[in-house]
Amino acid sequence: MKILFVASEAFPLVKTGGLGDVLYSLPHALHALGADVRLLLPGYRALLAQLDQMRILGWVEVRGAHGPVSARVLETRHPGYDFPLWVLDCPRLFDRPGNPYVNAAGDDWPDNAERFAVFSRVAAQLAQDALDLGWKPQVVHANDWQTGLVAAFLADQPLRPKTVFTIHNLAYGGYFSHADFVRLQLPSPWWSPEGVEFHGGFSMLKAGIVYADAVTTVSPTYAAEICTPEFGYGLDGLLRSRQHKLHGILNGIDTTIWNPATDAHLPARYSAGRVNPGKRRCKQALLGRFLPQVDDAAMQAPLIGLVGRLVEQKGVDWVLAAMPVLLAETDARFVLVGSGQAAYEQKLLRLAQQHPDRVMVTIGYDEPLAHQIEAGADMFLMPSRFEPCGLNQMYSLRYGTPPIVFKTGGLADTVADASEAALEDGSATGFVFDTPDVAALLDAVRRALALYRRPAQWRRLQQAGMRQTFDWSESAGHYLALYSI
Ligand code: ADP
Ligand code: GLC
Repeated sequence: MKILFVASEAFPLVKTGGLGDVLYSLPHALHALGADVRLLLPGYRALLAQLDQMRILGWVEVRGAHGPVSARVLETRHPGYDFPLWVLDCPRLFDRPGNPYVNAAGDDWPDNAERFAVFSRVAAQLAQDALDLGWKPQVVHANDWQTGLVAAFLADQPLRPKTVFTIHNLAYGGYFSHADFVRLQLPSPWWSPEGVEFHGGFSMLKAGIVYADAVTTVSPTYAAEICTPEFGYGLDGLLRSRQHKLHGILNGIDTTIWNPATDAHLPARYSAGRVNPGKRRCKQALLGRFLPQVDDAAMQAPLIGLVGRLVEQKGVDWVLAAMPVLLAETDARFVLVGSGQAAYEQKLLRLAQQHPDRVMVTIGYDEPLAHQIEAGADMFLMPSRFEPCGLNQMYSLRYGTPPIVFKTGGLADTVADASEAALEDGSATGFVFDTPDVAALLDAVRRALALYRRPAQWRRLQQAGMRQTFDWSESAGHYLALYSI
């Protein structure tokens, strides 16, 4: 089966979050099952700088916001990839520094509508083999709002491939104005509430939901949640009406990249059979990165790790409210790497200044440190308000670092709470709270800290998590089945 993936990021070339991880690992899992895969990405400056030996597949010309846009489609082989990558090389839209979506000040690139409309138009052309490459996919799999228009451009084409659209996060709708719609010369029949129109503007995410043959999201619980007003961002009615084509398929993780037994980012390695001394050495090295001296008190105090985007979704405000309480009433310490909203970053840095030996904060994006925290922390805090799937909690389970999570989306689908009964029968893997507030979060952390003081039970919890299988084998099979319908 030939599958064209279309996405705005993919590890290790360009990654801002879990989307990048999935766009690396899912196509590879399908490739391993025998699928013939291509992945189309925008030619950002930083991405092109990492590629060599590119072959020009051809030139395309599509409508932009100020007349026709011409671009090249390149094909390359990357050592991390088992299949060819396709890159849209269009310097006016993508040759710029930094983040794929925002400028250095953190504001959306002002021409994002044009950037991703052009990207999607080209993807739709490639899906119809407009360059006469002799490679026409049976399925085009687009991801998140940046590629929402792909299915729309293909919808009325003859002999077109099947379109699948995956929602990785409904909170990012790709909303633009009517003026953008006109400038981009999008087809006027789309301008209706049954099409892409959304409260006077339009949404590229909505286009994917309306026009794709199948819509998926990244966990079964989130698939149900987004059909409710609480999680639906105004699209819940539409999603309810499309429930026949909406599927929740849990993300997998790449178990070669995220494996404590082989992880080259770690100072020592370990596995479920023998957690220590490897994990202790990881803790020591992690603490040593922040503290002048790692004494017994530091090694014995429970270390709570956090990794992620510092945005409201991740419950950072709850964490900020809980930290002073926990610092006052327990001996817990915190280690965090993240970046996002400036106000959160500043508050975290202030706490780190006030408690240098107990709150260790790195603001920024640091892939090795993310691995080191997963391994070196004793427990992992991820109290997201909503979480389409979440990969970090699965990484932490695999690294013997029990997660503390709110019962939502993929967190609810992957973490088993350490209730008395679950501890008894060995199925517990972490701590789950089900009321969305700071008091419930504190309660879950206190339960974790109490169990941490019972080493035999704690070890059982760690090992139960480490033995979970979150690889792609099952979920990739679900995607293949969906492609074949
Ligand atoms: P989301 O996609 O919502 O950000 P996920 O849990 O699905 O959340 O995936 C987050 C991914 O991004 C993980 O691979 C995580 O390690 C990585 N990540 C997030 N923030 C950082 C950071 N500041 N430094 C390093 N890696 C990060
Ligand atoms: C999004 C979601 C996250 C999910 C990731 C990959 O960024 O926020 O929950 O794991 O996409 O699907």
